[in-house]
Amino acid sequence: MKLTQDQRDLLEGRYGEGAQLAMKIQVAIGESFGAERMVPITRAHVALSNQDADLWLAEKMVGLGAKCRVTPTVNPGFCLSYFKRIQKVSDEDYRMMERTEKAYRALGAQLSYNCTPYIDTNVPTFGEVCAFSESSATPFVNAVWGARSNREGANSALFAAITGYVPEYGLLFDENRRGTILVNVEAEMKNDYCYHILGMCGKKIGHGIPVFTGLPENISKEALRNLGAELNTSGAYDMYHIAGFTPEAPDLETAFGGKEPERVVTITDQDFEEVLEEISLKGNREIDFAMFGCPHFTLEECRHILSRIGDRKLKKDMWILTSSHVEQMAQRMGIYDALEAVGAHIVPDSCPDQPCWHFLKGKVGVTESPKCAYYPQRRDIHFVIRDLDTCIEAAVSGEVR
Ligand code: F3S
Repeated sequence: MKLTQDQRDLLEGRYGEGAQLAMKIQVAIGESFGAERMVPITRAHVALSNQDADLWLAEKMVGLGAKCRVTPTVNPGFCLSYFKRIQKVSDEDYRMMERTEKAYRALGAQLSYNCTPYIDTNVPTFGEVCAFSESSATPFVNAVWGARSNREGANSALFAAITGYVPEYGLLFDENRRGTILVNVEAEMKNDYCYHILGMCGKKIGHGIPVFTGLPENISKEALRNLGAELNTSGAYDMYHIAGFTPEAPDLETAFGGKEPERVVTITDQDFEEVLEEISLKGNREIDFAMFGCPHFTLEECRHILSRIGDRKLKKDMWILTSSHVEQMAQRMGIYDALEAVGAHIVPDSCPDQPCWHFLKGKVGVTESPKCAYYPQRRDIHFVIRDLDTCIEAAVSGEVR
């Protein structure tokens, strides 16, 4: 690989052992993908984790004196102050999260603890080269913003933030960003929830870069967030196009780079029903709680929940996961207190795939997000999946109808 003077200095340890190790691994990744050079990045997002292996690596990098050249935003773990206040976390889990926070602070990360930074705090511009990990983040920055990021892992994104470079391969090149599968959506796309279910059709869509047609003219940021998150729950997708909507797909011909699609797939209401059958507990049952915000909810969604509940009280707890930015805005606007008053809790900086939810073990929740339902199964927490308004009604009445 051809390296610049600065890149060689990094590799030879002029900027310390931490940066040297990060560069060494990145060069190895680049060589394995046939990259000829490293290119600078201007943004990064690290899907941090407070689990043993990831924490071991972050602490090792701190021990080697690594510091981020490009300040990355980071994924949620669980909010230390919130769960301390409600006394739900074991000492051991608390310590792991505390150590994670300490390590990433020392590395110079922005402790944003949010998995949707591409919506408001870490938003790239068209063509910007960056290093984003996190399932909904990579497809969003590529497809919606037209920025360029490979599907980084938490560790490779951290190394990119430390060195300020990524190896040039994959989606950094025009020719690898073209669509390969034409996906005709015939299913009715009534609301943002339908994009969750469309994303869960990865098995049928298959491997490649989908180009969706048949979607409504206006698609919300929440719907696009849901689509990317679930495409990477049901499969592995770093990029997609929506013909006539996303910036690199003004029309089908451009989306496919003038070539014929390798495959044509049609997604119908029947596919949606089959997917839901496979991933959700059956409805018409009592539930113990509701959980939303996987990926993190927006302020508009918090407001929507409040307006749907109106002056009723919830029979069951409702947990709404979001960023601390949205939490603060909700506080300023009175939404936070109003939700608390009806029995709904805005929880910042937290993810459903965390030990802080152990108190829900053996319980059945309701959620609009298949991803939210997927991860907690390993902690014996199970979900009925329905659209958001049905879930809200379930929390009000105590059962999914
Ligand atoms: Fe975000 Fe955690 Fe869900 S990182 S997408 S809240 S699994």
